[in-house]
Amino acid sequence: MNLTIIGTGYVGLVTGTCFAEAGHHVICVDNDEAKVNLLKAGGMPIYEPGLPELVEKNTAAGRLRFTSSTQEGVEGSDVVFIAVPTPPQPDGSVDLSFIEGVSREIASAMTAYKIVVDKSTVPVQTGEKVAETIKRYRKTKVEFDVVSNPEFLREGFAVEDFMKPDRVVIGVSSPRPVAAMKEVYAPYQAPVIVTDINSAELIKHASNSFLALKISYINAISVICEKSGANVQEVANGMGMDARIGREFLDASLGFGGSCFPKDLSAFIRISESMGCRFGLLEEVQRINAAQMDRFLKKIHDTLWVVKGKTLGVLGLAFKQNTDDVRMSPAIELCQRLLKEGARLRVYDPQAMEKARAVLPEPQYVSDMNDVAEGCDALIIATEWPQFKRLDLERARKCLSHPIIFDGRNMFDTEEMERLGFLYKSIGRGKA
Ligand code: UDX
Repeated sequence: MNLTIIGTGYVGLVTGTCFAEAGHHVICVDNDEAKVNLLKAGGMPIYEPGLPELVEKNTAAGRLRFTSSTQEGVEGSDVVFIAVPTPPQPDGSVDLSFIEGVSREIASAMTAYKIVVDKSTVPVQTGEKVAETIKRYRKTKVEFDVVSNPEFLREGFAVEDFMKPDRVVIGVSSPRPVAAMKEVYAPYQAPVIVTDINSAELIKHASNSFLALKISYINAISVICEKSGANVQEVANGMGMDARIGREFLDASLGFGGSCFPKDLSAFIRISESMGCRFGLLEEVQRINAAQMDRFLKKIHDTLWVVKGKTLGVLGLAFKQNTDDVRMSPAIELCQRLLKEGARLRVYDPQAMEKARAVLPEPQYVSDMNDVAEGCDALIIATEWPQFKRLDLERARKCLSHPIIFDGRNMFDTEEMERLGFLYKSIGRGKA
């Protein structure tokens, strides 16, 4: 099929590329000329494992192309996906100006029937607004359908998630676009659920909020574990074996971050509020998440007493493993708070150092994880990159002025670390 994706951010670029890989002919549109030129020249605006190879392969095969012209994109396809940002406003509600702008552009470019699919994460009832906007701005009474098709991909695993989705959600207001939407997703052999548009939009916010809630739940349990001397990983393993609960998203940490969970939670709280329903449960999820960072910092203070003037090594800057994304990264917040107190930092991340430098210019950036501990008073693990498990601990112990490690991601075995001579403070494992 001929498909157009408007917006080549994480969601748009992965979606367009994976559609092309499945055999569709895809036009990716972005109003950022520099980004379009970069992509045309074979460059990548983001780090996403497996994506560059697929972009190259499908561009070469003539199934994937890039343009800055919405007109060209709309004319070239029957199905037009909107994948533009929906950033938060200062009060936590969603800025829908990009969605509105693109809806107007599509409306004025339409000359024949189009299926306009929203892939961006939007508040419930946005589809209705998109339909109203297109009706108002279309030049002739050309027919169209609006569809909600939320995306559930995780950064760092986006290609895999797209190719093997747990489910495909298609929200429609008439049966007309259903067959075409099913054809778009036919190559993936995933279960398809067809709903009304409002339900589809709610599925996205309800899912992300639930996952964030799951993390805050285990983080709250981690506090009880520290008070009682229990081990949060054992508790999570035991809970996760219940098929109704599942083990995923039960890893205690210094909190969740990223461009989705914090933003989507705030948005969902605002959306519910605007409908007269206070969602106190989600407010608590936010509170627990913020407290988790405070508690981690307290551990550092309780151990080091004064942070000012000390040199600390930090492993990990991205908001999680397998990405170079530092947006709302707990690791960055941690660094900023330590710097504010007068600490000196030596930092390392396998992928995110370039992006981190832009928001965090002060630390010393180190190019090898095993060099970070050199001359430091303590080492901190802030992101769950799997390679940190292969850290040369013997060397770290010798390099540190005192063998102290604060682990915000529970990467090592507590007993083993004690045996190696470390004072090792992690999350929810043994008395704090
Ligand atoms: C999330 C959703 O998973 C995805 O479905 C949605 O489309 C976008 O938002 P993403 O933000 O890429 O994806 O990251 P995810 O892997 O979900 O992790 C989010 C945050 O939670 C990270 O900071 C991660 O470190 C943290 N996390 C995750 C935990 O602290 N504990 C866990 O058990 C899992």
